[in-house]
Amino acid sequence: MTDNTALWLSSKRAAFALGPAPFPSAQSGEIVIRTRAIAVNPMDRLVQTSGDLMTPYLQYPAILGSDVAGEVVAVGSDVTRFMVGDRVVGFAASTDKTRNRPAEGAFQTHVVLLEHMTAAIPDALAFEDASALPLGISTAACALFQRDFLALNPPAKGALATGQTVLVWGGSTSVGSNAVQLAVAAGYDVIATASPRNFDLLKRLGATAVFDYRDPTVVAAISAALRGKTVAGAVAIGAGSVQPCIDILGTCEGKRFIATATPPASFDEVPARRGHWRKLIAAIARTVAGNIALAVRARRKKVTLKMIWGSTLISNEVGPMIFDTFLPDALADGRYVAAPAVEVVGHGLAAIPAALERQRRGVSATKLVVTL
Ligand SMILES: NC(=O)c1ccc[n+]([C@@H]2O[C@H](COP(=O)([O-])OP(=O)(O)OC[C@H]3O[C@@H](n4cnc5c(N)ncnc54)[C@H](OP(=O)(O)O)[C@@H]3O)[C@@H](O)[C@H]2O)c1
Repeated sequence: MTDNTALWLSSKRAAFALGPAPFPSAQSGEIVIRTRAIAVNPMDRLVQTSGDLMTPYLQYPAILGSDVAGEVVAVGSDVTRFMVGDRVVGFAASTDKTRNRPAEGAFQTHVVLLEHMTAAIPDALAFEDASALPLGISTAACALFQRDFLALNPPAKGALATGQTVLVWGGSTSVGSNAVQLAVAAGYDVIATASPRNFDLLKRLGATAVFDYRDPTVVAAISAALRGKTVAGAVAIGAGSVQPCIDILGTCEGKRFIATATPPASFDEVPARRGHWRKLIAAIARTVAGNIALAVRARRKKVTLKMIWGSTLISNEVGPMIFDTFLPDALADGRYVAAPAVEVVGHGLAAIPAALERQRRGVSATKLVVTL
């Protein structure tokens, strides 16, 4: 028996606490990895502080975390893509409704991953850089490739140029830098937004044009850039991203569909305990009012909106399309890079709460990572 240690969430809105965890075994379609790097996400915080709302189905005690890279230590009897010792990155699925079990949370030293949500990584890619990928690429892929979202052609080596354009609002976020790369890899032109300091990054990732989302003329400028082009849809990421995307797509030819990643009101200020309900109810009220206003505006401009849930690809063809068919080769031959750049902010599971707090204060084109 080998030891396993986890950062537990004992109940809804509890503080994280380190403690022993059962050593997991690999069932059918699963592998177990020894964790080497974990990246933190806004979603981890939201599930901790607003689990009542975000993940009311979650079983406690829970282990959170989606982004993990490490070495394979066990494989299920029917697993064909991995062997013990392989270096991998995977989407840890503990908070997905269809999985909902602590063994699959990233915040522990040994994690169960689904074979079809795991990719081998090249020797040249450090675990900490790889750990930036899973939730960002998954959320972007849900938006771009699921049939009930943008339904783009799949990403592939030598994908034919479609001549169509995807708008990625919030291109320097983790989700956005993956959306830019995936859309380009699928044969689409990309127009993105970011702060000017991140324009070069997004051009390196393949965007043909990048605009400053804070510029008061940005809607007119992007609408002008899209004139005469066919849009394949938009991905709206970040606070206040949906309304300008509606206004832009409302002037465009093509698929007037926006996959939205961010609710219209922030839940960042909702504390886990004291003052929780007052701030949560206020945030819910702002979200409902914001959603109604956006729905009315979208209807008026003949644009469709749909909110992404970044783990739905686990249960459809998009998960294996990304983690099996596309990502391993694309990483190996450098067609795809782990982005945004990572900053290692600590070592050991105990460093995760501080990393989450740092994440709450804001990052720019940076993924915060803890090594193990
Ligand atoms: N629905 C889902 O399943 C799902 C899954 C994952 C994430 N999300 C949501 O998606 C959003 C991004 O998450 P993430 O982890 O990718 O974020 P992140 O990497 O932590 O985001 C940091 C970036 O946000 C950008 N940004 C800040 N304010 C913005 C705004 N008003 N408009 C556009 N960009 C802005 C900054 O860009 P500059 O520095 O260039 O200004 C910065 O680079 C969050 O709202 C998160 O909750 C949703």
